[in-house]
Amino acid sequence: MTVPLAQHQAEIERNLRAWDGKPLLQNIYAGFYRRILALIDPAIPGRIVEIGSGIGNLKAHLPGAVASDLFPNPWLDLACDGYELPFRSASLSHLVLFDVFHHLQAPNAFLREARRVLAPSGRLILFEPYISWTSYPIYGLAHHEPVAWGKPINRAEALPRPRDYYAAQGNATRLFFRQELPGWPEGWNLLHAEAFSCFYYLLSGGYSKRAVYPARWLEALQRLEVRLSSWPRLFAGRCLIGLRPA
Ligand SMILES: C[S@@+](CC[C@H](N)C(=O)[O-])C[C@H]1O[C@@H](n2cnc3c(N)ncnc32)[C@H](O)[C@@H]1O
Repeated sequence: MTVPLAQHQAEIERNLRAWDGKPLLQNIYAGFYRRILALIDPAIPGRIVEIGSGIGNLKAHLPGAVASDLFPNPWLDLACDGYELPFRSASLSHLVLFDVFHHLQAPNAFLREARRVLAPSGRLILFEPYISWTSYPIYGLAHHEPVAWGKPINRAEALPRPRDYYAAQGNATRLFFRQELPGWPEGWNLLHAEAFSCFYYLLSGGYSKRAVYPARWLEALQRLEVRLSSWPRLFAGRCLIGLRPA
């Protein structure tokens, strides 16, 4: 059964309602954004654009970034589709996608467009779920989006309209860490691929569920997770990927 693309807007509205009432999640995301910011190189000429900004939180940490999404919400700078970006070739320094890559049914079609708009020294930064032995059951059971482990990944270079809602939480792990498609992604150099443990996030309930630990435990959990991150296949729950056109 297909789900209409408008499902994203329903989720954006739900997330917006949850965000203000959940300082724990705001603290966790602040740490995630710091990781992303560490991959931004201000020396690269061109604008920084976030694709699929949702409720637009990155901008609080990176005020110069252009916030965009499929839907023209008032807090965004631009409505646009990652498969058809309204930017001149080689004009952007960075593209940032937070929890968006696993919604791209045809990753190659997006990568082709990303390569077009990025400057030769530009960077594509992806922040995604990571599927490990321990995060798999949590993403699989507690989150409504499919992990889609083992399902075929569309390798087409274009995705015709109309487009439906798509989600496959396992795609970044499969493509960037398990290297399911040898030599992929063609035309890109991998600058950074890091998977880290974050039970403090997985057990926070995210946008849609209640946290299963008190907010005052966050710092202690984060310290513990630095150790657990040494065994990403076992404990990791998130990943950060940086790419540059080859
Ligand atoms: C899981 S949400 C993440 C939102 C936000 N980045 C965050 O972390 O809270 C995925 C977002 O990607 C957007 N999206 C999905 N497909 C897209 C596409 N082809 N182009 C641009 N945005 C897209 C959706 O509208 C949605 O806002």
